Amino acid sequence: MKDVCVITGGGSGMGLAAAKYMSKEKRIIISGRTLSKLENGVKELQALGYEAYAKICDTSKRESVKELAAFAASKGEIKNMINCAGLSPAMSKPETILRVNALGTVYVNQEFSKLMHPGSVIIDIASNSGYMLPVFLANKKIYALADKDERLFIKKLMRLGSFMKDHYKRAGLAYSYSKNFVIWYAAKCAFEYGKRGIRVASLSPGLVATDMGNLEETKDGGSLIRYTAEERMGTPEELGYAIASLADERNGYLAGVDILCDGGSVHGKQEFKKHKGLGGL
Ligand SMILES: NC(=O)c1ccc[n+]([C@@H]2O[C@H](COP(=O)([O-])OP(=O)(O)OC[C@H]3O[C@@H](n4cnc5c(N)ncnc54)[C@H](OP(=O)(O)O)[C@@H]3O)[C@@H](O)[C@H]2O)c1
Repeated sequence: MKDVCVITGGGSGMGLAAAKYMSKEKRIIISGRTLSKLENGVKELQALGYEAYAKICDTSKRESVKELAAFAASKGEIKNMINCAGLSPAMSKPETILRVNALGTVYVNQEFSKLMHPGSVIIDIASNSGYMLPVFLANKKIYALADKDERLFIKKLMRLGSFMKDHYKRAGLAYSYSKNFVIWYAAKCAFEYGKRGIRVASLSPGLVATDMGNLEETKDGGSLIRYTAEERMGTPEELGYAIASLADERNGYLAGVDILCDGGSVHGKQEFKKHKGLGGL
Protein backbone atom coordinates (compact mmCIF):
# COMPACT_ATOMS: atom_id res chain seq x y z
CA MET A 1 0.00 0.00 0.00
CA LYS A 2 1.26 3.47 -0.86
CA ASP A 3 1.61 6.22 1.75
CA VAL A 4 -0.87 9.08 1.47
CA CYS A 5 -0.49 12.80 2.17
CA VAL A 6 -3.68 14.84 2.53
CA ILE A 7 -3.69 18.63 2.33
CA THR A 8 -6.83 20.62 3.19
CA GLY A 9 -6.84 23.99 1.45
CA GLY A 10 -4.47 22.29 -0.98
CA GLY A 11 -5.94 23.82 -4.14
CA SER A 12 -4.02 27.07 -3.72
CA GLY A 13 -1.42 29.03 -1.79
CA MET A 14 0.82 27.42 0.81
CA GLY A 15 -1.06 24.10 0.73
CA LEU A 16 -0.42 23.57 -2.97
CA ALA A 17 3.15 24.81 -2.57
CA ALA A 18 3.72 22.31 0.27
CA ALA A 19 2.42 19.46 -1.93
CA LYS A 20 5.23 20.18 -4.40
CA TYR A 21 7.87 19.51 -1.72
CA MET A 22 6.39 16.17 -0.61
CA SER A 23 7.95 12.87 -1.65
CA LYS A 24 6.81 11.63 -5.09
CA GLU A 25 6.56 8.17 -3.53
CA LYS A 26 3.37 9.34 -1.80
CA ARG A 27 -0.15 9.71 -3.15
CA ILE A 28 -1.17 13.35 -2.72
CA ILE A 29 -4.79 14.31 -2.02
CA ILE A 30 -5.63 17.99 -2.17
CA SER A 31 -8.98 19.19 -0.88
CA GLY A 32 -11.05 22.33 -0.54
CA ARG A 33 -14.52 23.57 -1.49
CA THR A 34 -13.86 24.60 -5.11
CA LEU A 35 -13.52 21.76 -7.60
CA SER A 36 -12.02 23.85 -10.45
CA LYS A 37 -9.19 25.01 -8.16
CA LEU A 38 -8.48 21.45 -7.06
CA GLU A 39 -8.51 20.15 -10.63
CA ASN A 40 -5.96 22.78 -11.67
CA GLY A 41 -3.81 21.86 -8.66
CA VAL A 42 -3.96 18.17 -9.55
CA LYS A 43 -2.90 18.97 -13.14
CA GLU A 44 0.10 20.97 -11.83
CA LEU A 45 1.10 18.13 -9.51
CA GLN A 46 0.68 15.47 -12.19
CA ALA A 47 2.83 17.51 -14.58
CA LEU A 48 5.55 17.38 -11.90
CA GLY A 49 5.27 13.58 -11.70
CA TYR A 50 3.00 13.20 -8.65
CA GLU A 51 0.11 10.80 -8.30
CA ALA A 52 -2.47 13.35 -7.18
CA TYR A 53 -6.20 13.39 -6.46
CA ALA A 54 -8.79 16.09 -5.81
CA LYS A 55 -11.50 15.66 -3.17
CA ILE A 56 -14.08 18.25 -2.22
CA CYS A 57 -14.27 18.91 1.53
CA ASP A 58 -15.62 21.72 3.67
CA THR A 59 -13.65 21.42 6.90
CA SER A 60 -16.29 23.32 8.86
CA LYS A 61 -18.58 20.28 8.45
CA ARG A 62 -17.65 17.14 10.36
CA GLU A 63 -19.42 14.81 7.89
CA SER A 64 -17.45 16.30 5.02
CA VAL A 65 -14.18 15.78 6.92
CA LYS A 66 -15.18 12.18 7.67
CA GLU A 67 -15.74 11.60 3.94
CA LEU A 68 -12.32 13.05 3.13
CA ALA A 69 -10.66 10.85 5.75
CA ALA A 70 -12.42 7.71 4.43
CA PHE A 71 -11.44 8.61 0.85
CA ALA A 72 -7.81 9.10 1.93
CA ALA A 73 -7.75 5.77 3.81
CA SER A 74 -9.08 4.01 0.68
CA LYS A 75 -6.00 5.27 -1.20
CA GLY A 76 -3.42 3.91 1.23
CA GLU A 77 -1.91 4.56 4.67
CA ILE A 78 -2.41 8.18 5.73
CA LYS A 79 1.07 9.38 6.72
CA ASN A 80 0.64 13.16 6.57
CA MET A 81 -2.33 15.40 7.24
CA ILE A 82 -1.52 19.04 6.50
CA ASN A 83 -4.43 21.23 7.54
CA CYS A 84 -4.08 24.46 5.54
CA ALA A 85 -7.79 25.29 5.03
CA GLY A 86 -8.58 28.71 6.37
CA LEU A 87 -10.43 32.00 5.93
CA SER A 88 -9.07 35.45 6.77
CA PRO A 89 -10.76 38.62 8.09
CA ALA A 90 -11.22 40.18 4.63
CA MET A 91 -12.79 36.96 3.33
CA SER A 92 -15.59 36.21 5.73
CA LYS A 93 -17.62 37.03 8.82
CA PRO A 94 -16.47 36.27 12.39
CA GLU A 95 -18.61 33.19 13.01
CA THR A 96 -17.60 31.53 9.71
CA ILE A 97 -13.94 32.27 10.43
CA LEU A 98 -14.25 30.59 13.83
CA ARG A 99 -16.09 27.61 12.38
CA VAL A 100 -13.61 26.99 9.55
CA ASN A 101 -10.32 27.83 11.28
CA ALA A 102 -11.04 26.61 14.81
CA LEU A 103 -13.75 23.93 14.63
CA GLY A 104 -12.38 22.79 11.25
CA THR A 105 -9.10 21.98 13.00
CA VAL A 106 -10.97 20.03 15.69
CA TYR A 107 -12.82 17.94 13.06
CA VAL A 108 -9.70 17.33 10.97
CA ASN A 109 -7.50 16.30 13.91
CA GLN A 110 -10.18 14.10 15.47
CA GLU A 111 -11.39 12.34 12.33
CA PHE A 112 -7.96 11.81 10.78
CA SER A 113 -6.26 10.67 13.98
CA LYS A 114 -8.81 7.83 14.19
CA LEU A 115 -7.42 6.42 10.93
CA MET A 116 -3.73 7.23 11.41
CA HIS A 117 -1.01 4.87 12.63
CA PRO A 118 2.29 5.23 14.55
CA GLY A 119 4.79 7.27 12.54
CA SER A 120 2.15 9.54 10.99
CA VAL A 121 2.00 13.33 11.29
CA ILE A 122 -0.64 16.06 11.62
CA ILE A 123 0.39 19.65 10.89
CA ASP A 124 -2.12 22.43 11.61
CA ILE A 125 -1.53 25.81 10.01
CA ALA A 126 -2.10 28.67 12.47
CA SER A 127 -0.87 32.27 12.00
CA ASN A 128 1.32 34.95 13.53
CA SER A 129 -2.04 36.66 14.27
CA GLY A 130 -2.44 34.02 16.98
CA TYR A 131 0.54 35.66 18.73
CA MET A 132 -1.00 39.13 18.50
CA LEU A 133 -3.86 38.21 20.83
CA PRO A 134 -3.18 39.68 24.30
CA VAL A 135 -2.42 36.83 26.73
CA PHE A 136 -5.31 37.73 29.04
CA LEU A 137 -7.78 37.20 26.16
CA ALA A 138 -6.56 33.68 25.35
CA ASN A 139 -9.02 31.88 27.63
CA LYS A 140 -8.10 28.18 27.75
CA LYS A 141 -11.34 27.35 29.59
CA ILE A 142 -13.25 28.52 26.53
CA TYR A 143 -10.84 26.67 24.20
CA ALA A 144 -11.46 23.42 26.12
CA LEU A 145 -15.17 23.68 25.22
CA ALA A 146 -14.36 22.97 21.55
CA ASP A 147 -14.21 19.22 22.29
CA LYS A 148 -17.23 19.18 24.59
CA ASP A 149 -19.77 21.82 23.59
CA GLU A 150 -19.03 23.49 20.27
CA ARG A 151 -22.19 25.64 20.36
CA LEU A 152 -21.05 27.23 23.63
CA PHE A 153 -17.46 27.48 22.34
CA ILE A 154 -18.59 29.57 19.35
CA LYS A 155 -21.05 31.60 21.44
CA LYS A 156 -18.42 32.57 24.02
CA LEU A 157 -15.80 33.50 21.41
CA MET A 158 -18.36 35.54 19.46
CA ARG A 159 -19.30 37.40 22.64
CA LEU A 160 -15.69 38.49 23.18
CA GLY A 161 -15.73 40.52 19.96
CA SER A 162 -19.31 41.77 20.16
CA PHE A 163 -18.30 45.20 21.57
CA MET A 164 -16.50 46.11 18.33
CA LYS A 165 -18.46 48.18 15.83
CA ASP A 166 -16.09 47.85 12.85
CA HIS A 167 -16.78 44.67 10.84
CA TYR A 168 -13.18 44.18 9.70
CA LYS A 169 -11.83 44.58 13.25
CA ARG A 170 -14.40 42.08 14.56
CA ALA A 171 -13.40 39.60 11.85
CA GLY A 172 -9.73 40.30 12.70
CA LEU A 173 -10.31 39.48 16.36
CA ALA A 174 -12.14 36.27 15.39
CA TYR A 175 -9.20 35.35 13.15
CA SER A 176 -6.67 35.97 15.96
CA TYR A 177 -8.77 33.90 18.34
CA SER A 178 -9.18 31.09 15.82
CA LYS A 179 -5.43 30.90 15.18
CA ASN A 180 -4.43 31.25 18.86
CA PHE A 181 -6.83 28.34 19.42
CA VAL A 182 -5.19 26.29 16.60
CA ILE A 183 -1.76 26.68 18.28
CA TRP A 184 -3.22 25.53 21.62
CA TYR A 185 -5.31 22.72 20.15
CA ALA A 186 -2.47 21.28 18.05
CA ALA A 187 -0.27 21.15 21.18
CA LYS A 188 -3.09 19.48 23.15
CA CYS A 189 -3.53 16.88 20.39
CA ALA A 190 0.22 16.25 20.34
CA PHE A 191 0.05 15.00 23.92
CA GLU A 192 -3.15 13.04 23.35
CA TYR A 193 -2.18 11.34 20.08
CA GLY A 194 1.51 11.10 20.96
CA LYS A 195 0.71 8.03 23.05
CA ARG A 196 -0.35 6.37 19.79
CA GLY A 197 2.78 7.47 17.90
CA ILE A 198 1.02 10.23 15.95
CA ARG A 199 3.09 13.42 15.89
CA VAL A 200 1.26 16.78 15.93
CA ALA A 201 2.66 20.31 15.57
CA SER A 202 1.47 23.64 14.21
CA LEU A 203 3.09 26.27 12.03
CA SER A 204 2.31 29.97 12.09
CA PRO A 205 3.06 31.87 8.88
CA GLY A 206 3.43 35.64 8.75
CA LEU A 207 2.10 37.62 5.80
CA VAL A 208 2.60 35.48 2.68
CA ALA A 209 1.87 36.40 -0.95
CA THR A 210 -0.99 33.97 -1.58
CA ASP A 211 -4.57 34.88 -2.62
CA MET A 212 -5.33 35.38 1.07
CA GLY A 213 -2.13 37.23 1.93
CA ASN A 214 -2.38 39.57 -1.06
CA LEU A 215 -5.93 40.46 -0.06
CA GLU A 216 -4.97 41.10 3.58
CA GLU A 217 -1.91 43.10 2.51
CA THR A 218 -4.24 45.77 1.11
CA LYS A 219 -5.96 45.88 4.53
CA ASP A 220 -4.42 45.82 8.00
CA GLY A 221 -2.06 42.88 7.32
CA GLY A 222 0.30 45.08 5.26
CA SER A 223 1.24 47.04 8.38
CA LEU A 224 3.21 44.01 9.65
CA ILE A 225 5.67 43.95 6.74
CA ARG A 226 7.81 46.71 8.22
CA TYR A 227 8.32 44.64 11.38
CA THR A 228 9.84 41.67 9.52
CA ALA A 229 13.63 41.25 9.44
CA GLU A 230 13.85 41.75 5.66
CA GLU A 231 10.80 44.02 5.40
CA ARG A 232 8.97 41.86 2.88
CA MET A 233 6.16 39.32 2.57
CA GLY A 234 6.95 35.61 2.47
CA THR A 235 6.49 33.60 -0.72
CA PRO A 236 4.19 30.56 -0.95
CA GLU A 237 7.23 28.46 -1.93
CA GLU A 238 9.17 29.46 1.23
CA LEU A 239 6.22 28.49 3.40
CA GLY A 240 5.50 25.37 1.34
CA TYR A 241 9.03 24.18 2.04
CA ALA A 242 8.78 24.96 5.77
CA ILE A 243 5.43 23.13 6.04
CA ALA A 244 6.62 20.10 4.05
CA SER A 245 9.78 19.75 6.14
CA LEU A 246 7.79 20.02 9.37
CA ALA A 247 5.45 17.32 8.04
CA ASP A 248 8.34 15.05 7.04
CA GLU A 249 8.42 11.90 9.18
CA ARG A 250 12.20 12.37 9.61
CA ASN A 251 11.43 15.42 11.77
CA GLY A 252 10.14 12.98 14.38
CA TYR A 253 11.03 14.95 17.52
CA LEU A 254 9.23 18.15 16.50
CA ALA A 255 5.98 17.75 18.40
CA GLY A 256 3.68 19.79 20.64
CA VAL A 257 5.09 23.14 19.52
CA ASP A 258 4.27 25.93 17.11
CA ILE A 259 6.84 26.91 14.50
CA LEU A 260 6.69 30.66 13.97
CA CYS A 261 7.66 31.17 10.31
CA ASP A 262 6.83 34.85 9.95
CA GLY A 263 9.97 36.59 8.72
CA GLY A 264 10.45 37.84 12.29
CA SER A 265 7.33 40.05 12.41
CA VAL A 266 6.21 39.03 15.90
CA HIS A 267 9.62 39.56 17.48
CA GLY A 268 10.17 42.68 15.40
CA LYS A 269 6.94 44.18 16.65
CA GLN A 270 7.44 43.14 20.28
CA GLU A 271 11.13 43.99 20.64
CA PHE A 272 13.59 44.60 17.85
CA LYS A 273 11.79 47.20 15.77
CA LYS A 274 9.47 48.84 18.24
CA HIS A 275 11.84 51.71 19.08
CA LYS A 276 12.42 52.73 15.46
CA GLY A 277 9.59 55.20 15.31
CA LEU A 278 7.21 52.41 14.38
CA GLY A 279 5.27 52.17 17.62
CA GLY A 280 5.21 49.20 20.00
CA LEU A 281 2.45 46.77 20.78
N1 LIG B 1 -1.33 34.16 3.44
C1 LIG B 1 -1.07 34.65 4.64
O1 LIG B 1 -0.58 35.79 4.76
C2 LIG B 1 -1.32 33.81 5.87
C3 LIG B 1 -0.77 34.24 7.06
C4 LIG B 1 -0.93 33.47 8.22
C5 LIG B 1 -1.67 32.30 8.15
N2 LIG B 1 -2.21 31.90 6.96
C6 LIG B 1 -2.96 30.64 6.96
O2 LIG B 1 -2.38 29.76 6.01
C7 LIG B 1 -3.37 28.84 5.52
C8 LIG B 1 -3.28 28.77 4.01
O3 LIG B 1 -3.69 30.02 3.47
P1 LIG B 1 -3.07 30.61 2.11
O4 LIG B 1 -2.36 31.85 2.48
O5 LIG B 1 -2.37 29.56 1.38
O6 LIG B 1 -4.38 31.13 1.37
P2 LIG B 1 -5.31 30.51 0.26
O7 LIG B 1 -4.58 30.33 -1.01
O8 LIG B 1 -6.55 31.34 0.26
O9 LIG B 1 -5.63 29.05 0.83
C9 LIG B 1 -6.65 28.77 1.73
C10 LIG B 1 -7.36 27.54 1.21
O10 LIG B 1 -8.35 27.14 2.14
C11 LIG B 1 -9.46 26.66 1.44
N3 LIG B 1 -10.64 26.78 2.28
C12 LIG B 1 -11.23 27.89 2.76
N4 LIG B 1 -12.30 27.58 3.50
C13 LIG B 1 -12.38 26.22 3.50
C14 LIG B 1 -13.28 25.29 4.08
N5 LIG B 1 -14.33 25.67 4.81
N6 LIG B 1 -13.04 23.97 3.89
C15 LIG B 1 -11.99 23.55 3.14
N7 LIG B 1 -11.12 24.39 2.55
C16 LIG B 1 -11.32 25.71 2.74
C17 LIG B 1 -9.54 27.53 0.18
O11 LIG B 1 -10.17 26.85 -0.91
P3 LIG B 1 -11.74 26.96 -1.17
O12 LIG B 1 -12.12 28.40 -1.01
O13 LIG B 1 -11.87 26.44 -2.57
O14 LIG B 1 -12.37 26.07 -0.17
C18 LIG B 1 -8.06 27.77 -0.12
O15 LIG B 1 -7.58 26.85 -1.07
C19 LIG B 1 -4.70 29.34 6.08
O16 LIG B 1 -5.06 28.57 7.19
C20 LIG B 1 -4.40 30.75 6.52
O17 LIG B 1 -5.25 31.21 7.55
C21 LIG B 1 -2.07 32.63 5.83
